[in-house]
Amino acid sequence: MKIAILKERRAHESRVAASPETVKKLAALGCEVAVEKGAGAGASYSDAAFKEAGAEIAKEAATALSGAQVVLKVQRPIVGGKDDELKDLAKGMLVVANMDPYRTRSDMEALAKAGVTVFAMEMVPRITRAQSMDVLSSQANLAGYKAVLDAAAEYGRAIPMMMTAAGRINPANVLVMGAGVAGLQAIATARRLGAVVFATDVRPAAKEQVESLGAKFVAVEDDEFKQAETAGGYAKEMSDAYKAKQAALMADTIKKLDIVITTAAIPGRPAPRLISEEMVKTMKPGAVIVDLAVETGGNCELSQPGKVVTKHGVRIVGHINVPGRLAEDASALYARNVLNLMQLVIDKETKALKIDWDDEIVKGLCIAHDGAIVHPAFKSEEKAPAVASVVAPGAAETAEADKDGEKEDRSNG
Ligand code: NAI
Repeated sequence: MKIAILKERRAHESRVAASPETVKKLAALGCEVAVEKGAGAGASYSDAAFKEAGAEIAKEAATALSGAQVVLKVQRPIVGGKDDELKDLAKGMLVVANMDPYRTRSDMEALAKAGVTVFAMEMVPRITRAQSMDVLSSQANLAGYKAVLDAAAEYGRAIPMMMTAAGRINPANVLVMGAGVAGLQAIATARRLGAVVFATDVRPAAKEQVESLGAKFVAVEDDEFKQAETAGGYAKEMSDAYKAKQAALMADTIKKLDIVITTAAIPGRPAPRLISEEMVKTMKPGAVIVDLAVETGGNCELSQPGKVVTKHGVRIVGHINVPGRLAEDASALYARNVLNLMQLVIDKETKALKIDWDDEIVKGLCIAHDGAIVHPAFKSEEKAPAVASVVAPGAAETAEADKDGEKEDRSNG
């Protein structure tokens, strides 16, 4: 069976869906692996390293795809336009990638119509058996770490306390908003750098986790908070009354802070708005906000996708694809997540695809099969969660410059 690994074509995407290590393991499973030339360049994997691991290097995507049954990617294939990737995909191919299905229904429908089987890595259910395939965790963990480093790089002061002959430097006060996978790693990283760390979340389970990392938990702990976690462990959308109480508490807290890392998200919905312009105005000059939710609408009203801006004296960082800023590690972990999935769907005896359509993991991540959308969450328009006012992936490339006349500092890319 042939597996194709393609070079990613979307802006801000430097990762790749395989590493030399996983190519070797796929080859050991009996697969023929074709890697598109230069696919690993953004992650520091050379064609030579892939070749040595057992891959054939294909000059272009179409050559890699020729005769392939499985396509491994980081981002969903581009549908339409000059970079269209759909045209090279054949009916019956299994395409595995981050599909962003809540925001890309028309792309999912186009892939289904083309007869492609679509596996969305971010839809892997969060059950123990699937932990080794959980790309949300593997990538969010790196994003949380990098967010703190990005904040430190923008911050004009030191983070740890320093006692020097010239006097004492006080430690930075850091707040992490949203204590899921990214947030907990941000807390741990900020603590390692010597910051005094505070954290907030709407899920009660987060409190103990925050405190076990040595941070102080700050939240409105009312009756609604006590029931704010879904059976799946995710946050629920909070009521307007709760949001008002939360905003008042955060408005009071944020004035005293030097760095704020925001990671708050609700799956399939726009990011909750936690920091208003009024709150930014009360922050100390030189304070830094890193908004990890910028791609799904932003936790901060003033963050801009793909830009670092200064507003009211506060640096606001809105990098796109933060895991991609650590492309080698992010690719290595993503590639292992994908390899673990491949081990589930490849028959060791016949060395061919053998998908158990009743498997909970397969049911969770399969969006389209046999020419139709099959995932219950996406089958009918009515069942789809609302995703209004989110930033479309890649929108940052066309993001307008600041409208209020303040300086735009730079774009990432
Ligand atoms: P996420 O990326 O969906 O959200 C990040 C955080 O934002 C969450 O902790 C959420 O509670 C918080 N949040 C949402 N609205 C908020 C608001 N208004 N104010 C403050 N915080 C807000 O979450 P992530 O990181 O994917 O993790 C979600 C849960 O899943 C966690 O409990 C995590 O421990 C659990 N998990 C379970 C795994 C498993 O295999 N069983 C694997 C990974 C995570």
